[in-house]
Amino acid sequence: MNEKLRVLTGITTTGIPHLGNYAGAIRPAIEASRNPNIESFLFLADYHALIKCREPKVIQESARSIAATWLAFGLDPKDVTFYRQSDVPEITELKWILSTITAKGLLNRAHAYKATVQENISDNSSDPDRGIDMGLFEYPVLMAADILLFNGQQIPVGKDQIQHIEMARDIAKRFNYIYGDTFSLPEALITEDALILPGLDGRKMSKSYGNTIPLFESEKKLKKLINKIKTNSLEPGEPKDADGCSLFAIFTAFATKKEQAALKKQYEEGIAWGDVKKILFEYLNDELKDNRTEYEKFLSDPAELNKILTLGALKAKETAVPFLTEIRQKIGIGSLC
Ligand code: TRP
Repeated sequence: MNEKLRVLTGITTTGIPHLGNYAGAIRPAIEASRNPNIESFLFLADYHALIKCREPKVIQESARSIAATWLAFGLDPKDVTFYRQSDVPEITELKWILSTITAKGLLNRAHAYKATVQENISDNSSDPDRGIDMGLFEYPVLMAADILLFNGQQIPVGKDQIQHIEMARDIAKRFNYIYGDTFSLPEALITEDALILPGLDGRKMSKSYGNTIPLFESEKKLKKLINKIKTNSLEPGEPKDADGCSLFAIFTAFATKKEQAALKKQYEEGIAWGDVKKILFEYLNDELKDNRTEYEKFLSDPAELNKILTLGALKAKETAVPFLTEIRQKIGIGSLC
């Protein structure tokens, strides 16, 4: 029998999903979850969120919103293991074990840590580690535990996370070397190349640029945001280039090839920007309408979300608990007999 490919990824609970997240990560993950040759583990990385955000309400709202979004797009918890990181304490337990074999020097080289140190140095701070807590420093170890506890093989992530996956590999290799073959070596699957959507200002749609279009805004808000997308100043009647146009790029992420070709022709014929925006709004609204209703249903029933995620955590533990028992045995703190 063929072993299934284990695909695992986490979403940090600090934001509200936007169109770019959907096209680049959520949609492909949901498609993968329906592939019978893939075994998917998807989780809300809420302990990672604490490193970026100290507003409990924001984290809770984000967790609800992310869970509701994935379910609204038809993620079926029967097909995947869908859970909250914090509901599986075996992960943080493994994190401690892994930190005992992780060289401090490895973590010194992590981009996020190094960038903060560099900022402190540039600011002439007397302490290069100013403002850096252990959470930020050990972020890659927690991520390694997330992955290794489930022997995740393929890890869909954005480019900024490649180094973390490489570190998880290094940590897995070191553990395997010391205690014998235990963990599979994970590989990053870069999702960003697949589809990067431009945001309101034409740069990559990203929470850090504040240029996002949330997936499930009201119709009115969606229309308003689409009207804000930057275009050039060509007048109605003047031929326009669809390539490189943000409106067209977003349309392309949703529409069929035929629909794309039809709109492209309208560009060439000099369609007015206002009309392109209208077409894009109507298209997206139509596409997202039903999911929006589902989303609102889930959001208004957080007890149901709890239930789904708790069942997901129980499913995750079916793998995590016996594996952690085996790991403890290997390192000498398992059963005494
Ligand atoms: N750090 C990842 C991000 O910010 C989220 C994450 C946490 C993750 N644990 C993970 C992704 C494990 C993949 C695997 O995008």
